[in-house]
Amino acid sequence: MEIRPFAESDADAVFEVHRRAFGGRTEEARVVRQLHDAGEDVVSLVAVVDDRIVGHVLFAATVDDGGAHVELVGLAPVGVRPENQDAGVGSALIRHGLERCREAGVDAVVVLGAPGYYSRFGFERASEYGLGNEYGVDDEFMVDPLHEGALDGVDGVVTYRPEFRQTEG
Ligand SMILES: CC(C)(COP(=O)(O)OP(=O)(O)OC[C@H]1O[C@@H](n2cnc3c(N)ncnc32)[C@H](O)[C@@H]1OP(=O)(O)O)[C@@H](O)C(=O)NCCC(=O)NCCS
Repeated sequence: MEIRPFAESDADAVFEVHRRAFGGRTEEARVVRQLHDAGEDVVSLVAVVDDRIVGHVLFAATVDDGGAHVELVGLAPVGVRPENQDAGVGSALIRHGLERCREAGVDAVVVLGAPGYYSRFGFERASEYGLGNEYGVDDEFMVDPLHEGALDGVDGVVTYRPEFRQTEG
């Protein structure tokens, strides 16, 4: 498996990855396209197996830190073709992506998702770091501080940008 940066020529394959990963719905696929087109992607990686794109992860500037004054990006979405799931593709995409974010000077990455999955990458409950969210969830809203003291003194409510709201539900 190769993990490499997204290129514009990957757009159709990446759309298809998310459409398939999310059971045929296209909301996530469309949001990915919009964010790429708007240049909001901070880190965007594809996983390639046998010359075929089988997974994609996006880390985008979709979040407002609510006045916390830290460089935050949101991990969403991550998708792997159903026939390629449970083979480590999603984990490889997330681990590489977090490393690229750290190199890019990002302070912390937030994610809304299953704690059982994301805790293995270093994500912890965001409320423990003073970060609230607009969805009224607790355990599922997580943050991964990318360096020591990244979230010291932080107190804010993170909000996702409007284009992201269409992926809810
Ligand atoms: C979630 C997803 C990206 C994981 O990718 P993957 O390549 O299958 O994952 P990996 O092979 O790296 O890891 C597999 C592990 O993740 C676990 N896992 C997968 N989805 C999970 C979920 N929703 N909640 C908890 N654990 C999950 C599997 O049980 C497996 O656990 P194990 O290592 O203890 O056996 C992939 O299943 C997918 O595309 N799902 C549909 C889209 C989606 O829900 N995306 C996430 C929300 S943005």
